[in-house]
Amino acid sequence: MDDYELFCAGRLADPYPLLADLREREPVHWSERLQAWIVTRYDDVLAALLDRRFANDRVSVNMKALPPDMREQYAQLGDHVSNWLGFTDPPKHTRLRGLLRTTFTPALAEAYRPAILAIVDELIDAMLGEREPDLVGGYAFPMPARVIFDILGIRDEDAGDFHRWSDDMAAFTGNIGPTLVEVAPRAYESYRALEEFIGTQVDERKRHPHEDLLTHLTQAEESGELESRVELTGLAVFTLVAGHETTASLLGNALKLVLEDDDLRAKLQAEPDVLPAAVEEFLRLEAPIQLSPRLAGEDILLRGATIRSGDAVILHIGAANHDPARFPEPGALDLDRSFTRHLSFAWGPHFCLGAPLSRVETAVALERVLERMPDMRLTGEPLQWRENMTMRALTALRVGC
Ligand code: HEM
Repeated sequence: MDDYELFCAGRLADPYPLLADLREREPVHWSERLQAWIVTRYDDVLAALLDRRFANDRVSVNMKALPPDMREQYAQLGDHVSNWLGFTDPPKHTRLRGLLRTTFTPALAEAYRPAILAIVDELIDAMLGEREPDLVGGYAFPMPARVIFDILGIRDEDAGDFHRWSDDMAAFTGNIGPTLVEVAPRAYESYRALEEFIGTQVDERKRHPHEDLLTHLTQAEESGELESRVELTGLAVFTLVAGHETTASLLGNALKLVLEDDDLRAKLQAEPDVLPAAVEEFLRLEAPIQLSPRLAGEDILLRGATIRSGDAVILHIGAANHDPARFPEPGALDLDRSFTRHLSFAWGPHFCLGAPLSRVETAVALERVLERMPDMRLTGEPLQWRENMTMRALTALRVGC
């Protein structure tokens, strides 16, 4: 089987049967087309996430996929992405993560609950005025975007083309192989726009410090904790993208699963207390981040395969979350699973800092929309999945009320 089938449009609707076949027959598989290894078993993915020999500093994998002239032309894009927290290794990773960890705490997530409720109520008010609202474009996407804007200190009206910029960046960082040649030009333009956007915000913070993350990062640049403006911009843009594309995907995927299952919907409406368990199962079943790439820092022997130093390695979170060795009947939504430790937030040194926040965002948004739009029904319009190897996300989810 040509594994690229895994990522082609035809498989987006349900990649899991092919992943199951790969996990069963070739758990460590070399992809000639992607020039990368694909690791699909839960225990192997978990072990690799904890193994420092698998490095995060992997932007060279993306840049290598570009022809030499484009590599030169877009070198700044590569530099920028190499300062994304998820693309760094210690000691730099430890220093940068330390700057964000003080913000993204469970206490922050709880403190944001009232603000999240106010945002979702406003979005539901707007959707109730439409005949067939789109739960992705009108709800799942704007909600986490507004929350992360608020945390960073960006006013909604200043966000400009943020949605497009973020999509373009996610297309570059979320793909591997031949696709990158197509998406790199737009990603470069959007990176330039984001760099200018963040620059303006930072200059404003130098004049008028605020109680927000951008001020915190601006002060870290002044104190030297951040060693350059490139580091600051990298951290800010990564937080913007990581902080909303993901939760938007989770909420969209969760709403699809709930609206396709009347018993589940009735249970969640009658017993909102089971929502946190449901959110974990939605994360497992339809992981928003399907894979986590790494670069082998030395030769590594894994299940009889020799991964050479410098090889790209795709840790397939989506496949690991469906491994029957850990999750019996992996395709079934089961709120009473005894083992619930999915890998959707990764594990180890790069464990998602936003996990507490996205759990609260998703539970509040689900509970509220099921309460205020209790009779909504999918319109039956064919569903489309975004063409992104890493992100598992719907392009739209229309309902009739
Ligand atoms: C459902 C929502 C989310 C999912 C599924 C998710 C998933 C992930 C995953 C898989 C990683 C590790 C990537 C890797 O190691 O390659 C990660 C890292 C990260 N996430 Fe999330 N994330 C979500 C929401 C958020 C939110 C709301 C924020 C808030 C800003 C956030 C901030 C981060 C940060 C800062 C990291 C980097 C951690 C590090 O490299 O040390 N995430 N996330």
